[in-house]
Amino acid sequence: MKISIGCDHIVTDIKNHIGKYLESKGHEVIDNGTYDHERTHYPIYGKKTAAKVVNKEADLGIVICGTGVGITTSATKIKGIRATLVRDVETVRYAREELNVNVIGIGGRICGVGLIENIIDVFLETKYKETPENKALIEKIDAMIEDNEQANDETMFDEFIEKWNNGGYPAE
Ligand code: RB5
Repeated sequence: MKISIGCDHIVTDIKNHIGKYLESKGHEVIDNGTYDHERTHYPIYGKKTAAKVVNKEADLGIVICGTGVGITTSATKIKGIRATLVRDVETVRYAREELNVNVIGIGGRICGVGLIENIIDVFLETKYKETPENKALIEKIDAMIEDNEQANDETMFDEFIEKWNNGGYPAE
């Protein structure tokens, strides 16, 4: 499978580990960054990672930040994405089987690497069960998101990046 991955600066090492783990299992990885530990903003990478799934460059996506909350919330705002934050294998199994979730979010400072690998295994191995009920519910969930002009605005985070470039954030 082709897997789109992304993270913020808090968990770059974990994202890199996940990329290698996926490759060791024979998957192709699209790494959307961030690529170092310089402070950045999780919505940038939630959006980039999710976009690859929506435009079908990737089959599924995995997003990671410290808690997983910020980047997962960002990814799920992209039309066509059903993203969920997972911290156990049973949740990810349900998310794939019933909701055909196409992006999972993980808290890299919450879950250990072994659990993250188990979650990813279940995410990639579990098949969506298309029942009339699941299909109808997913269609309704997908229809809740409205078209949003800002979604395609590549400059939407520029003000934050400029603030960073001008020393506007204290060191973390
Ligand atoms: C750092 O920006 C931190 O807020 C982020 O990694 C995450 O924990 C947010 O949910």
